[in-house]
Amino acid sequence: MKAIYFDEHGDYDVLRYGDVPDPTCAPGEVVLRIEAAALNFNDIWARQGLPRVNLPLPHVSGTDAAGVVVEVGKDVERVKVGDEVIVYGVNSCRVCPACLRGEEVFCRTMRIWGFQTGPYDGAYAQYAKVQAQQVAPRPTHLTWEEAAATSTSLLSVWRMLVTRAEAKAGDTVLVWGASGGTGSFALQLCRVLGARAIAVTSSDEKEAFCRTQGAEEVLRSDRDDVHRGVRELTGGRGVDIVFDHVGETVWPISVECLAWGGKLVICGATEGFMPHIDLRYLWNKQLSFLGSHIGTHREWMDCLRLVEQRKVHPPVTQTFALPEYAAAMRAMEERRITGKLAIRVGDHA
Ligand SMILES: NC(=O)c1ccc[n+]([C@@H]2O[C@H](COP(=O)([O-])OP(=O)(O)OC[C@H]3O[C@@H](n4cnc5c(N)ncnc54)[C@H](OP(=O)(O)O)[C@@H]3O)[C@@H](O)[C@H]2O)c1
Ligand SMILES: [Zn+2]
Repeated sequence: MKAIYFDEHGDYDVLRYGDVPDPTCAPGEVVLRIEAAALNFNDIWARQGLPRVNLPLPHVSGTDAAGVVVEVGKDVERVKVGDEVIVYGVNSCRVCPACLRGEEVFCRTMRIWGFQTGPYDGAYAQYAKVQAQQVAPRPTHLTWEEAAATSTSLLSVWRMLVTRAEAKAGDTVLVWGASGGTGSFALQLCRVLGARAIAVTSSDEKEAFCRTQGAEEVLRSDRDDVHRGVRELTGGRGVDIVFDHVGETVWPISVECLAWGGKLVICGATEGFMPHIDLRYLWNKQLSFLGSHIGTHREWMDCLRLVEQRKVHPPVTQTFALPEYAAAMRAMEERRITGKLAIRVGDHA
């Protein structure tokens, strides 16, 4: 089958489009014919390689997929050949205490599919295998590309805002990197929860996009003093929640922007892992710093319910064909995107 893959970590020249072995279906697994996939920033980390993270090589990336089941392994009863499905990006043992109590994210063998699995195991391929528990029916009102984009970002945002930060109606939430995949779902979810989202973004075009996604206010990292802007917009009080995945460069500003008793929730650090902060803020303002990582199957079901109810819509803004994948990844890395980017794999378009 055709896939985008790499044999070693590095720059764009490590990416190959070519033939790799077809997946084989073990007991408990299903094989999908991929119709569409969607990008996540994790794909960039996978290509580059991360310190202390061993990714199986050769690697096919891609954690978000929508497709048709073409083969089911022994013992798989719930999923049938021909089912149109989307994929939950968590591969776990399903039998340990953490898995059994519905906290797959704490399973000791939990791996993000299409990132830590492999070799040759992700969504940027004509076929892929996943655990049968990872698939759910495709929301039928969505295109294949939109369906593919309903998983990782939305799920991560749900866990960050609902489970970890316990965002509620009336809260004010500062959303960094608001125009991207994670950020735009955060704006949509704030709207659903009745929270007031203050988006931080970096251009006129992105500002307009953020307003379509649910931003009540927009601050501009390219020209505004974000802390001063937050003070003005909140009458000097600060925000209840900071939603962050940018990390090092914005963390000191986030700490200043938080109201007393505020919460900072973080799932990533695109601009670095080693922030400098004045710890006195932590105890004097009695802040909470919360880490969050992808989400549980149950949280994904909650997300999909919002999608089915048309309250949240995958913000796919551009689609690329599979061989054009490198151009999509470059646009993401160079910060030239809004919302989610999709990859068309099947020939349905
Ligand atoms: N642990 C988890 O579960 C989890 C889940 C999802 C994502 N993440 C992490 O969250 C981060 C964002 O992921 P994503 O998929 O949302 O990416 P994305 O769609 O590319 O969005 C990232 C946004 O961050 C802003 N940004 C600020 N500094 C940037 C920089 N140096 N390079 C690129 N963008 C920058 C940009 O928005 P503006 O121009 O509007 O500022 C950009 O659109 C990544 O670090 C990713 O690994 C973690
Ligand atoms: Zn487990």
